Amino acid sequence: MRHLLTLRETSKQDILHILQTAASFKEILQRPVKKVPTLRGRAMVTLFYENSTRTRTSFEMAAKIMSAEAINIAVAQSSVAKGESLKDTLLTLQSLKADCIVMRHYAAGAPEFAAKLLQIPVVNAGDGRHEHPTQALLDLFTIQHYKGTIEDLTVAIVGDIAHSRVARSNIWGLTKLGAKVRLVGPRTLMPKDVDRLPVSVYYDLSAGLEGADVVNVLRIQTERQDRGLLPGLREYSRLYGISASTLRYAKPDVLVLHPGPMNRGVEISAEVADGKCGLQCAVTEQVTNGIAVRMAVLYLLMGVPQSEES
Ligand code: CP
Repeated sequence: MRHLLTLRETSKQDILHILQTAASFKEILQRPVKKVPTLRGRAMVTLFYENSTRTRTSFEMAAKIMSAEAINIAVAQSSVAKGESLKDTLLTLQSLKADCIVMRHYAAGAPEFAAKLLQIPVVNAGDGRHEHPTQALLDLFTIQHYKGTIEDLTVAIVGDIAHSRVARSNIWGLTKLGAKVRLVGPRTLMPKDVDRLPVSVYYDLSAGLEGADVVNVLRIQTERQDRGLLPGLREYSRLYGISASTLRYAKPDVLVLHPGPMNRGVEISAEVADGKCGLQCAVTEQVTNGIAVRMAVLYLLMGVPQSEES
């Protein structure tokens, strides 16, 4: 694996290898002193053209735990604000001796452009509506922890699928590992190419949740709506909001995920988000698992082969 750009193009074998590597790193997160020398002397640069709390911070934590340098480019304070192009920004970071670039960009395909341009590994931390592979990997890791396996599970992805890079990466990752994926939401929030995806589609929430093992709730991305939200937020919540009441259609031991940030009271009720009413909601655990998964990705891309060590 030279880069991590999409789960569509990542093999089942590589996905399983990342998950296994993450499992071996997770133990480090329980230690009082979370520091190992694994990536000493390496430098990771994060280049985010869109806002982030979880992804950017967990990549920084992952690099620092493994003793790598973590340099965060604040795009608004960088020469991007003076009009520097993406190409020149990337070449500059490579010339500054970055060993890996983790990038988030509003344009689908920007990380692929970077990977073709540079000699160093590139990680896609979210590109437009396209993919967010490390989010899907941490979702897979969390499901595996709770359910023991992904194979044959029924996973309902509910909400704003059309604008969701998380949904796309989840679809490819889950189906490669043998899960059955349902997309649930209003027609207006389904992607145009939904017929070409390996999923079944439900426009009715109760039917889509029937017998589901896992419900992955997506944020309503009002910032990406072209023509305003159809339906409106109140209507959306009434028809598709995930609550203790609507979850009665799923299996009794259903696992609820949400990539965050959450709109409490819109796509998910506060009681479900907080894991009350005996419901399994793994939102906070997903965030912690994100560190282990990103440690694994950085290690597999930046780890120094034995022959290169002095
Ligand atoms: N899930 C996710 O990508 O969150 P951030 O936007 O906070 O990184």
